[in-house]
Formats: sequence, structure tokens, C-alpha cells
Amino acid sequence: MGEAADEQVSARAAQGSRHTPSDTRQSAPGAEGLNNGVSGDGVPSVAGKVAVVTGAGSGIGRAVAQALAAAGWDVVLAGRRAEALAETARLLGPRGSDGPAVIRVPTDVTRPAEVDALFAAVRDRFGRLDLLFNNAGTFGRSAPLDELSYDDWQSVVDVNLTGAFLCAQAAFRTMKAQDPQGGRIINNGSLSAHVPRPDSIAYTATKHAMTGLTKSLSLDGRPYRIACGQLDIGNAATAMTGRMATGIRQADGRTAAEPVMAAADVARTVVHMAALPLEANVQFATVMATNMPYIGRG
Ligand SMILES: NC(=O)c1ccc[n+]([C@@H]2O[C@H](COP(=O)([O-])OP(=O)(O)OC[C@H]3O[C@@H](n4cnc5c(N)ncnc54)[C@H](OP(=O)(O)O)[C@@H]3O)[C@@H](O)[C@H]2O)c1
Repeated sequence: MGEAADEQVSARAAQGSRHTPSDTRQSAPGAEGLNNGVSGDGVPSVAGKVAVVTGAGSGIGRAVAQALAAAGWDVVLAGRRAEALAETARLLGPRGSDGPAVIRVPTDVTRPAEVDALFAAVRDRFGRLDLLFNNAGTFGRSAPLDELSYDDWQSVVDVNLTGAFLCAQAAFRTMKAQDPQGGRIINNGSLSAHVPRPDSIAYTATKHAMTGLTKSLSLDGRPYRIACGQLDIGNAATAMTGRMATGIRQADGRTAAEPVMAAADVARTVVHMAALPLEANVQFATVMATNMPYIGRG
């Protein structure tokens, strides 16, 4: 666990002292002299900007939380497992009182009341929200379509679609209401937002649906300076993709190992997307293990 700037907040009782963002902001050298927080090279300063990362207790979410904090963002870590969030916070390293703040809010994104409490905690602690990395997700049970149970289907829809919607809606409400208005939502899609793997209908359908969320959020966000983009990842080495190294079923029925890449390579892309001024947006991006079977259908 880090120093004073790392704290856990209960999503169910999101109260407590309200801090102004300047409490824990890392001031970039000379930031006061910058024009509207924009540096000489046109890149907005992220000092004092607040990001929520869902699924922050492992894999891509953890790597993205680390990269955002290293870039100077205040980071809110959300996910169901409090101990996993605490480990992510520990990995972010000790931060002094003048460094980026990191708070942990254990949250199940499938539960509307917990999602509401997460974003209430963000508003209470920081007074605003600049970025949601909508990342929490599950692959679900891999099974032949005719053997998939209703519960198998629903549990994936609950996390990947309903959970992503609930978080996006709460972020949208916060970004629309705040002053200055606006912010950015980055949805974590997948190559499965484009093409399926065998026996993955719930995952594939929900990741295709994520593209619909991204497009609707982008359109509905226009009047309020809310930008929305989507990152489609292929084979980052995480718990979810453990089978890529040992062998996973291919479209032709074979089982074969596939190349993977580091989650940190995904995180660098998110930091870039997040740092753009709100007038610019990476609408869709694909980051994948270079030689994995996708392009050329194999
Ligand atoms: N790795 C890849 O190559 C790849 C490729 C394409 C897309 N993605 C996407 O990337 C995202 C992260 O996956 P990952 O690869 O990093 O796998 P992971 O390590 O299994 O991460 C999934 C995260 O989602 C969280 N989560 C699951 N259900 C949740 C719920 N109901 N409420 C809150 N959080 C929940 C988990 O935390 P708790 O269990 O603590 O809740 C976990 O931290 C997913 O959306 C996945 O579809 C990954």
C-alpha cells in the first residue's frame, strides 16, 4: 500500500471528507505558466486529472492504472476484489503527498447501486472525472453453443455489456454536469468485437455490443465535450489469455499456441488516447500480438 495518497473508499458508503483536487495533485514544473494547462508542444497537462479504471486489480486494468499514475493522473481503482486493488496500489509505488492520488473503491460493475456509489466517491473525493477506462470484463465459459446455459450467457452479458453501460452512464452523467464540462471514455473492446473465436458466443456478442456503446456514447457525448473511443486488444498476456501460451482451439478445429504481447504495450496506447485534448479522439484502435492469427485469417 502506498503512502498518504493511497486510500480505500467504501463504494457502499461513499462519504467522507471532500478534498479539492489540489489536495493531492502533482503540479508539473511551471504548470501555472501554461496556457489553459496546455504545454508548448500542444499536449494538455494531466496534472490533477482524474481517471477511473475498472478491473484495476489485474491484467490490463492493473497495467493501465500503473501507466496512468506514472503519467501523473490521479487514479481510482475499481474491481470486486479489495485485496487485488490493494496489490495494484502497492505496485504503483509510494507516493508523496504531492504525487498523484490513488484511491481504491471495491465495486461490482453489475450492481447499479455500487456503480453509482463508485462515481459518487469520485465526485466526493476529487470533484470531477476526466477519464473512464471501461475495462472490467470476463470471457465466461467456453462451450459449444448448444451446451451454453442461460446463466453462462447472462453472467457474461451482465459484466461485459450491462456493467460497461452502467459505468459509462455514470461517467457520462458526471462529465456532463461538471464544470469545466466534458471528459473521455475509453471502452475496452477486443478483436472479438470484429471476429469470433470458436465457442465464445457470449463474449463475441458482448464485445460487438461494446462497439455500439462506443458509437452511441460518441454521438450523444458531442454536445457535452465527452469523447469516447474504443481499444480492441488481441492477446495481451493476462490471466484471461493463459490458454494462448498452452494452446487454444482454432477456427479449423486444431489446438495451437498463439503469440502474446505484454499488457504494458496496451497501457502505453491507453495513456496516449487519454492524453489527447478533448477536441481530438482515437475513435477505434487495435493493439495485438503482431503474429497472432487474425490478419489473413490464420
Ligand atoms: N488480455 C487480452 O488479450 C484481451 C483481449 C481483448 C480484450 N480484453 C479485455 O480486457 C479486459 C481486461 O481483461 P484482462 O485480459 O486484463 O483479464 P483479467 O486479468 O481477467 O481482468 C478482468 C478484470 O475484470 C474485473 N471484473 C470482472 N468482473 C467484474 C465485475 N463484475 N465487477 C468489477 N470488475 C470485474 C476483474 O476483477 P475482479 O475479479 O476483482 O472483479 C479483473 O480485474 C476485459 O474486458 C477483456 O475482455 C483482453
